[in-house]
Formats: sequence, structure tokens, C-alpha cells
Amino acid sequence: MNLLLLLLLLLPCVFLLLPLVVTLRDSHSFLGSVPRKFVPFNEVQAAVFNEDGVTNYSTMLIREDLALLLVGAKEAVYSLDLNNITRKQSSLKWPVRPVENKLCVLKGRHSVSECRNYVKILHKKENGNMLVCGTNAFDPKCCDLYFSNRSLTRGSRMESGRGKSPFDPAQRHASLMDGNNLYSATYENFQGNKPTLTRSSPDFIKNEESNNVLNEPTFVYMAQMPEDETNQENDDKVYLFFNENALGQCEFYQKVAVPRVARVCKGDLGGRKILYKKWTTFLKATLDCPVPRSPLPYIIQDAYLWCDPKLHWRNCLFYVIFTSQIDKSHPTAVCVYPVLDIITMFETGTYRPSVHRDIPLMYSQNIPFPRPGACINNEAQKMGINQSADLPDNTLLFVKNRPLMDHTIHPRGEKPLLIREGATFTRIIVNHVSANDGQAYNVMFIGTEDGTLLKVVDFGGEAFIIEEIQLFQQIEPIKILTLSSFTHQLYVGSDSGVAQIPLASCERASSCLDCVLSRDPYCGWDGADGKCVVVLNSQRKLVQSLKEGNVFSCPNSEPITPVTVSIWEGQNLTLSCPLPSNLAKTSWRRNNSSGILIGRLHRLEDRLEDRLEDRLEDRLEDRLEDRLEDRLEDRLLILEASESDEGLYQCLSVEHQKSVAYTTTVAEYEVTVNKTIPIQTEKKQILKEFTVETYECQLAGDAGVHILLTLPTISLVILLIWNFYKGHLPCTFWKKNVKLYRTSLEELPTNSVCCSCSRRKGNKPMQESAL
Ligand SMILES: *[C@@H]1O[C@H](CO)[C@@H](O)[C@H](O)[C@H]1NC(C)=O
Ligand SMILES: *[C@@H]1O[C@H](CO)[C@@H](O)[C@H](O)[C@H]1NC(C)=O
Ligand SMILES: *[C@@H]1O[C@H](CO)[C@@H](O)[C@H](O)[C@H]1NC(C)=O
Ligand SMILES: *[C@@H]1O[C@H](CO)[C@@H](O)[C@H](O)[C@H]1NC(C)=O
Ligand SMILES: *[C@@H]1O[C@H](CO)[C@@H](O)[C@H](O)[C@H]1NC(C)=O
Ligand SMILES: *[C@@H]1O[C@H](CO)[C@@H](O)[C@H](O)[C@H]1NC(C)=O
Ligand SMILES: *[C@@H]1O[C@H](CO)[C@@H](O)[C@H](O)[C@H]1NC(C)=O
Ligand SMILES: *[C@@H]1O[C@H](CO)[C@@H](O)[C@H](O)[C@H]1NC(C)=O
Repeated sequence: MNLLLLLLLLLPCVFLLLPLVVTLRDSHSFLGSVPRKFVPFNEVQAAVFNEDGVTNYSTMLIREDLALLLVGAKEAVYSLDLNNITRKQSSLKWPVRPVENKLCVLKGRHSVSECRNYVKILHKKENGNMLVCGTNAFDPKCCDLYFSNRSLTRGSRMESGRGKSPFDPAQRHASLMDGNNLYSATYENFQGNKPTLTRSSPDFIKNEESNNVLNEPTFVYMAQMPEDETNQENDDKVYLFFNENALGQCEFYQKVAVPRVARVCKGDLGGRKILYKKWTTFLKATLDCPVPRSPLPYIIQDAYLWCDPKLHWRNCLFYVIFTSQIDKSHPTAVCVYPVLDIITMFETGTYRPSVHRDIPLMYSQNIPFPRPGACINNEAQKMGINQSADLPDNTLLFVKNRPLMDHTIHPRGEKPLLIREGATFTRIIVNHVSANDGQAYNVMFIGTEDGTLLKVVDFGGEAFIIEEIQLFQQIEPIKILTLSSFTHQLYVGSDSGVAQIPLASCERASSCLDCVLSRDPYCGWDGADGKCVVVLNSQRKLVQSLKEGNVFSCPNSEPITPVTVSIWEGQNLTLSCPLPSNLAKTSWRRNNSSGILIGRLHRLEDRLEDRLEDRLEDRLEDRLEDRLEDRLEDRLLILEASESDEGLYQCLSVEHQKSVAYTTTVAEYEVTVNKTIPIQTEKKQILKEFTVETYECQLAGDAGVHILLTLPTISLVILLIWNFYKGHLPCTFWKKNVKLYRTSLEELPTNSVCCSCSRRKGNKPMQESAL
């Protein structure tokens, strides 16, 4: 048997290769980063909205009061039915005027991709109307937006969007509406070199223009916190997440981005002489999300403020996505920061000395009173300081020059909640769900560059990826995520369209085991109906075990009746075993004995062959290769069946959760092989030639063979099996003496060491291709 020979030849080098193989499979070192299920596009059944010729659906506003989802796209705003976004209520075109387009082109921008109107801001105002802003060919404009008589109309008064909406459609920005006050972080000029954090009313306030305050920032996310407990102190705050270039040698070298969180007090009205109409409360601090083996800090991609409505705001958490600033192919991570840690840093931390040369370095931390950057509190008011304009000069000067806190804010648990290789994370949103056990769990929905959505549950520091859903057919980044706790739906925007899916699709789990092991807080097993159902919609007692993933309370599943399969002798047979989970491993048994090795070898052959088929496009292939390999494991291939292959075949799935192994029989086949007239000799010959020609091997000289004799053979066998199973048989470090053979395995020089062999697609006679 060819494979047996291959097996023997490979023994020595597999052992030597072990460290190499381990580094190749590094991705698996991030435990818990494999989604339990991958749901392909055709199984998702999302409601989709898009319109011909319209792209960039990247702004959203949920109006539960009107049962509407408002979507801002390129030159258009839509109002869609919140329950089913395929039902469009109305649309509003908002194109640039030709003269604006011409002006923009004259200034050197691209007519089609840049000098258009990209809708960037959609907020609800206090009176129920909305504010909409667009880039308007690098001349941002804002106006009111009304929804009445089931249609959208634009207010006639156009105002400048400078300092509110970005000029450049490709630039990230952040904004929020507080009552009628718009807070916005964006660049406020055509050249894109004046970053600003503004509040447009009641008084227009912005930041001091200094790279000490904002140094080539990329704005990401903004959130408000109602920290005012007495309703007398103006303690409510606005938080801003962004990345900026580090200044000076105090941090890293030049042009290294650092992730920051900044905050201002809502009550800030600016100073009187110093910092007139500028923030007097702008303070920022560095965030740390420690991803192993990363030389440079990870930067923020998105953030989300999550608060439990039943708990005090001090328990709120920021969920923040980080990516590498070097290479998008590096792992991405989620770090969680308690609001309290951030507040504590700003309220009690030390300030970093200014790095400006024209300001004398002050090493002493003689912090003036009132504390620089603090909101005006009772204590200050007792001193007669009623508003920020009353602040003394030394407090204002101090905060003007030293807006940066000296220490870094570390994430909850001092480590990322989740690190994952593969598609880079782009957006995050968090929902809160009360489970059957009476406890509430946080579920993260994370969008990726590839148009997939991850559903991850946060078990207070342990992340578990329930599923990865391929929401969009083509590979394109997810640009916006929102959800409605009213409709229990998730709305996802990309360049090509908007998709809507329910927060939970429990029916995808077909058995109690599958339902419970998914550890989805939204889902539970209804024993009476024999269905996995949404907990919220059910009045019955459901089986659910989130923390443990314990399936012992599941009813006994009905025994599987074997499928009878009969084939002719000499034919190939593929037995399938659809795995319920990516975390499960299959093993095959024949006649009740675990002929695991046989199963694995057959499967290896299967895999080698399939890999050669260029079934997927280049990019898709790279990203999906791992998934594909997993999927190929769910088959058993019997080649050229003979009588000895008869018997009962069982496919078992073993899934570990919390170190308990759950085994289920997924499929059973009763295979019989019918004797037949022998295949004509001519045909046999062709078959023979094909098999003879199917291996391409790299062989090293006879070095290393003695190792085989000196090492305990048993460990080698174990390692070999493991390597076979992983499908990695590389041998690149045999730099010397490696020759390429294209041959049948019987023809290999017997005293050489085989490093890697792969099946060939070609079908030419052996003599031609042997080297
Ligand atoms: C949404 O509406 C479309 C057409 O009106 C319909 O075909 C589809 O089934 C609806 N989807 C849901 C989830 O209700
Ligand atoms: C709404 O529509 C009705 C009838 O079509 C019309 O009489 C009314 O003036 C409209 N109202 C507004 C605010 O446009
Ligand atoms: C708009 O969408 C197109 C693809 O349809 C994309 O190439 C472009 O980068 C998008 N522009 C912005 C500003 O997002
Ligand atoms: C601050 O407000 C108090 C009462 O509200 C007032 O008596 C006091 O004069 C104010 N101080 C300043 C500096 O305006
Ligand atoms: C094998 O023989 C059985 C019984 O004679 C028959 O039912 C079955 O169809 C045969 N299988 C094939 C593949 O022809
Ligand atoms: C069985 O599979 C082998 C290898 O894939 C192939 O060469 C052979 O032609 C197949 N035999 C039949 C009868 O399909
Ligand atoms: C396998 O085991 C089951 C029960 O353990 C038994 O009923 C069945 O006959 C066995 N099958 C064979 C082929 O031994
Ligand atoms: C499995 O059992 C069947 C009968 O139950 C027998 O015909 C077959 O030869 C057995 N196969 C092996 C590999 O033992």
C-alpha cells in the first residue's frame, strides 16, 4: 500500500519537523478563537436592502418610535421598515450640484469617487426631526430631515457642515447628538489637516489647535455618559476613542499611532481669556490592549459603550476592537475597559509633562485647584466657580499644555477578551440578554473585513465564539452595525447594501446537544417540541447550560438507523458525516472497532486531491482554506472498494467543552460490496497509471535515517499520526540535498528521507515526469 510506505519514509523527518509545524499552526494557540459554527451565505437568509447604482450604506439611525431604519448612503437617504428592511418606505436623493462637483474636481479631487455627497451624519433631534449631513463634494452641508406622510423631506435651510461632517468621504469620524447639541470629531478643512472635536450648540466649542491635543488623529467612536448624580453638578461627559500619532520621544519613535480615549464635560463652556470657546476639560489617556508578539501598540478600530440598564452607570463597559497598525493580517483583538477605570485615571491620575519646546518642562506635579480638566463640581461652585469661564488661569494653562495623562489604561483582566487570526474585525456592538438561569450575558456582534459577522458571548472574561455568519456574498468590509432591542434584529451596512438578521437563529441547531453546546444565551432546547427555540419567545422550561455547556439534562436522542449503501466492487464510495460544530472532531468506526487510522488515511487522500482543485477564487481561497479543510474532514472515502470493506460504518463526533467530551453518533452506514465481473484489464491499466503518477515528493539524502533507529518508535508513530491528521507535511528546512521526484512511491530511493509528498493533478506517463 502506497500510503504505508509513505508513512514509513516520513517517520524520521516528522519528528525533526515538529517545531516548524508548531509555529505554522500558531493560529491555534489563541484558544477559543475558532467559531463553533460557520454559517455560509446561502444558509443565512438575511433580509437585504440595496438600490441599483447606490453604494456606501454606512450611516444608520434607528427610529423605534416610527418603526423605521434610516440609512444614509452615497447621495441618498432611505427610510425602511424596521421589521423588514426589504420594505422601503421612502427615499430621498441628495446629489451634489454640478457646480459643486466641478469646483471639487478643480481642487484636484476625483469626480466620481470623492466629489459626491456621502451621507455621514444622521441623528434624531429633540423635536423628533432629524439632522442629516453629507460630504457634498468636499464642502460638507447639513440640514433638517423630516419624516411625515410616510415620506422623507429635506429642510430648505442648508447650513455648513464644517466641523460636523468630514470633507473627505474616506475619512473616519465620530459624532453623537445630545438633545440638540451635536458633538462631532472630524477634520474641519479641505486639506484634512485640522482635526477637531466640536460641540455645535448651545455654544460652539472646539479644541485648542495644537498637536499636543490632537496629532493627526483618526477618530473612531464617541459615547456619552450620564455621570451627573445630583443633577446639580455638570458632570455628564462625552468620551471619544481615536488613534493619533505619538508625539516626541517620550513614547515611541515618530509616526507611531497610539490608541487613546479622551473625554470632555458636557457643561464645558470654554474659558474667558485662556481657552476662549475651547474645551477646558479635554483630557486624554492611552489605552493598552496587550496582544502577544506585537512590537507596536495595537490601534482602535471600533468601540461600543455597553451599560446594564439595571445597574449603576459605574458598571458600564467599553468594548473596543483593536487591530495591528503594521499589517492587517495580524490577529485582531477585543479588549474591555470598565468605565470606572477610565474615570479614575482622569480624576486621580498624574499628567504627562508637556513635550513642547517653548514651554518649560515642569517636573513637579503641583496640580492647581480646581483640578485641571475636571468638570465644575460642587466644591468648585462653593469657591464661586460656577462655570468653566470662571476657572483660574493656572488651571486652564495647565490643562492646555498637558491634556495627556501619564499612565496607560489597562483592559479588564489585564488581557484581551478575544484574540483571533483571520478576517480583521471592523465593527462591534454589544447586546445584553437574560438567559434561562436568570442571569444576564453580554453578547458581542463583531463585523469583519470579509463581510462576516461573529457572534461572541462574554462569560465575564472568557469569550466563546458561537458562530461566524457570512452575511454578504462578496468579500467586503462591514461598515456599520446597529441593533434594535425592540425588534430583536441586527442591521448591518456595507458598501453594497444593508442586511437584517435576527439576534438569534436558534433553529439552526438540530439536536438538543447542538443547541446546548452552542452556549447561545438566546437559545434553549424545548424538549416537548423537540426544537431549539428563542428563550424570549418561549413559556416552557428549556434546556440551557451556558457556563458549563453541560448537555446531561438533554433527553436521550433517538438511535440512528443506519443507511444501507451497496456498491460494486472496485468503485469508490464517499460517506458523509455532517459535523454540527467546528469544535467537534470526527472519528469513524467499522464493525464497532475504532479503525481510526484507516479512516484518517482515507481522509488524507481525499484532502490532498480536493486541495488541488481550484474551486475558489484566489482571495476567497486564502481566507477560506482553513474552513475548507475542516469541512473536508467530515467525509470518509473508500477507494476501490473490495469485500473486506464491508461492514457497519459509524461516524462519531466528539466535542469537548469545559474538558468534558461529548460523543454523538452523527451517521451510520451499512456498506455492502457486490461482487461483479472483474474490470477489464485495459481499464485497470489506466487506473494503475493514474495512481503511479500521483505523487510529487521532495527527498533529502540519506541523512537523518539513523535517527529512526535511536528514538523510541512509539512517540514517532504518535507524532506521525498527529501530523497526518493536521495535514501538514512540510520539509523546507532540508535545504541541502533536496531533490524533487515525481514518481510512484514504490520507486523512491529506499535510503532517502521523504520530506513532503503531494498528489499531482496531471495524468502523464511516469517516465516523462520522473526526474
Ligand atoms: C420581508 O418582506 C419580503 C417582501 O415583502 C418578504 O418576502 C419576506 O419574507 C419578509 N421577511 C421577513 C423576515 O419577514
Ligand atoms: C400629507 O398628505 C395629505 C394628503 O396626501 C396632504 O393633504 C397633507 O398636506 C400632507 N401633509 C404634509 C405635511 O405634507
Ligand atoms: C464606496 O463604495 C465603493 C464600492 O462600491 C468603495 O470602493 C469605496 O471605497 C466606498 N467609499 C467610501 C468612502 O466608503
Ligand atoms: C455663582 O452663582 C452663585 C449663585 O448661583 C452667585 O451668587 C455667584 O455670584 C456666582 N459666582 C460667579 C463668579 O458668577
Ligand atoms: C447489490 O446487490 C443487492 C442485492 O442483490 C442489490 O439490491 C443492490 O442494488 C446491488 N447494488 C448495486 C450497486 O447494484
Ligand atoms: C476512485 O478514485 C481514484 C482516485 O481518486 C480514481 O483514480 C479512480 O478512477 C476512482 N475509481 C472509480 C471507479 O471511480
Ligand atoms: C456492534 O455493537 C452493537 C451494540 O453494541 C451490536 O448490536 C452490533 O451487533 C455490533 N455490530 C457488529 C458488526 O459487531
Ligand atoms: C464487518 O462485519 C460484517 C458482517 O457483520 C462482515 O461481513 C465484514 O467482513 C466485517 N468487516 C470487517 C472489516 O471486519
